[in-house]
Amino acid sequence: MSKNWRPATQLVHGGTLRSQYGETSEAIYLTQGFVYENSEAAEARFKGETDGFIYARYGSPTNDMFEKRMCMLEGAEDARATASGMAAVSAAILCQLKAGDHIVAARALFGSCRWVVETLAPKYGIECTLVDGRYLENWEKAIRPNTKVFFLESPTNPTLEVVDIAGVAKLANQIGGKVVVDNVFATPLFQKPLELGAHIVVYSATKHIDGQGRCLGGVVLSDKAWIDENLHDYFRHTGPAMSPFNAWTLLKGIETLPLRVAQQTKSAARVADFLADSGKVAKVIYPGRADHPQADIVARQMKGGSTLVAFELKGGKEAAFAFQNALDVVKISNNLGDAKSLITHPATTTHKNLTDEARAELGMSGGTLRLSCGIEDTDDLIEDLDRALEAIQA
Ligand SMILES: Cc1ncc(COP(=O)(O)O)c(C=O)c1O
Repeated sequence: MSKNWRPATQLVHGGTLRSQYGETSEAIYLTQGFVYENSEAAEARFKGETDGFIYARYGSPTNDMFEKRMCMLEGAEDARATASGMAAVSAAILCQLKAGDHIVAARALFGSCRWVVETLAPKYGIECTLVDGRYLENWEKAIRPNTKVFFLESPTNPTLEVVDIAGVAKLANQIGGKVVVDNVFATPLFQKPLELGAHIVVYSATKHIDGQGRCLGGVVLSDKAWIDENLHDYFRHTGPAMSPFNAWTLLKGIETLPLRVAQQTKSAARVADFLADSGKVAKVIYPGRADHPQADIVARQMKGGSTLVAFELKGGKEAAFAFQNALDVVKISNNLGDAKSLITHPATTTHKNLTDEARAELGMSGGTLRLSCGIEDTDDLIEDLDRALEAIQA
């Protein structure tokens, strides 16, 4: 396997493990366990003296193909496939911490990610400080002698704020801390956190990697030493492993990732311009536009815009609900990264557990909507949005 393959080639061929039948499409190994030739072989496998699988909670062939393909794409040495994105996020953070340690996290996080650092971690004596992650000085000011982990997503869910990953990594390196980046919104095609200096990358594979709304999945990627030291035992003994069936579905999904993300991003960029030029929306936030508040950082760390657009309607929640209800092609759903265009009202769905004040801090109002562009014809999407804008003016 060539490490020099370009992403589109890696995503079709990377990590493929063929059985004796030489199948074209990757096989699904739906097995819990593995049979050993004799007692000595079992002992050697358990001692780590021979390679091979032991039990599907530890690892299995279809999952191995998915992990290897993701490693190639991400430029990571090792990975673990998890049952969901949240299993990846919680494992990546908790496996490396103990009571008395401290996390610094951006306050603009997906609701469940924020719950893990803000509510769950303190129950186990792990302190957490949330900062406005847009400004590097806030990360620096929050550092304490016991800070071990920095956690961020960029662009953020749902208001597409951007964090300077290289800047945070530099601060972390000064104190021997680790930066965990949730790279879901950027996709592995548009942003390479490890190249920017981050230490650990996590994905909800449920999103663009599946891309067709079928199954949950996640993945944690890092260097081999970090995985061996921190994640290996945690993963084996707490059991967040991905189902081999889901690993197979995700292997199929990932083959078409570049094609889908290219079309989705092309649509999102046109939709963002359409909304901004319509004069009917209060604000449009899109990382590919020159008026994005952190366009300079976007240019430095992202190769493309995003498949998502955030925008604010003038009439608050009432207008946002009426707008969603008037859509036809775009479906109302809190998921994202799908082949189908999906829209959500974060204040009443993904971010409903935050206080009004916390939502306002993230630039989220009653009129804020998050649109995930699918692979439909862009003209149909724009006509649908145009019709809905007309409907709420009427
Ligand atoms: C940024 C981000 N991180 C993590 C997750 C969690 O992923 P999953 O639903 O696969 O657990 C999501 C899901 O919406 C997300 O948007």
